[in-house]
Amino acid sequence: MTHTDDFLPSGSPNVLETGKVGYSAPSNIALVKYWGKTSGQLPANPSISFTLQHCQTRTWLEFHKQALGTVSFDLFFEGKPKDSFRPKIQTFLERILPYQPFLNDYHLAIHTENTFPHSSGIASSASGMAALSACLMALEQQLYPDVNEAYFRTKASFLARLGSGSACRSLYGNPVVWGRHADVPGSSDLFGVTLPFELHPVFKNYQDTILLVDKGEKTVSSTAGHNLMHGHPYAERRFQQAHENLSELLKALETGDLDKFIAITESEALTLHAMMMTSMPYFILMKPNTLAILDRIWSFRRETGIPVCFTLDAGANVHVLYPENVRKAVLQLITGELVAYCEKGQYICDEVGDGMKPL
Ligand code: DP6
Repeated sequence: MTHTDDFLPSGSPNVLETGKVGYSAPSNIALVKYWGKTSGQLPANPSISFTLQHCQTRTWLEFHKQALGTVSFDLFFEGKPKDSFRPKIQTFLERILPYQPFLNDYHLAIHTENTFPHSSGIASSASGMAALSACLMALEQQLYPDVNEAYFRTKASFLARLGSGSACRSLYGNPVVWGRHADVPGSSDLFGVTLPFELHPVFKNYQDTILLVDKGEKTVSSTAGHNLMHGHPYAERRFQQAHENLSELLKALETGDLDKFIAITESEALTLHAMMMTSMPYFILMKPNTLAILDRIWSFRRETGIPVCFTLDAGANVHVLYPENVRKAVLQLITGELVAYCEKGQYICDEVGDGMKPL
């Protein structure tokens, strides 16, 4: 599957009046960052992420046949209608309509909830769009029973990308590459793919403890941030660097070279923020407590030799990444010291996981 036309349904659909499907999908954390896109939700550079396990969105989709000739839906978040999410979902459903034209023939009721605390500063768009896309593929599978597992996965990722770029990396585990890259056969700008080699065992149960430094709404949306890469003075070099960093990171993931893994992961996080600081308009999403945490992670690593490192999203929270076998020591650092820098002392323990699951 290499072209958007590969995602058009073919044949005539089954008769289906009504039904209900449910899927969960997790959040993911990028190691090489996606920052910059072109129209059609295509990434300016390839990215790679760990799929998480516990930070999930759970979504149920009820559908009733109703020939309206347009997309029609109700949206409930944690049991209540949620109007503020509607515009994003409306845009998403309209965007995917060419690939799921049957959506014109159904009224949808979307019920969704997150397993992580509301307004924790954790983006729910990746897990949310991934879970909804999986539900939409479950509906497509009922209509077109020859939809096989591989097509289901790939098209769910393809659809999720049209909702939110990073969401296309949340459908399966681990890690997932999105964006064409010379070292990953089959990689595509249209959907995420898994690695062409076996991940080194040290990464198989890698831990991600998310320190909630600032639980407020993001001051700059990702979409606005991506747009600031158009005409950015360092954009072209940055896009090239992402290719180079991904090549090096792939080697580290295969060989278990933690020094290399740490150097690339931390550099990518700081580069993402450097791009924001050097755009026009410019902005800083880190908080003083973010820097205090990074500084302490560095001194702790120097003092103990424990291979713990950080990455950042487009926000102030810190993802602390480490192998499972040093969990005790790192959690001691977190509970003993780093919680002091977290809003209300809050943090979330997560780890690498498997992707979407039927509910
Ligand atoms: C910094 O996927 O949220 O988390 O495609 O506009 O929805 P849209 O953006 P989004 O951007 C995520 C950016 C990032 C890096 C990453 O996840 O790769």
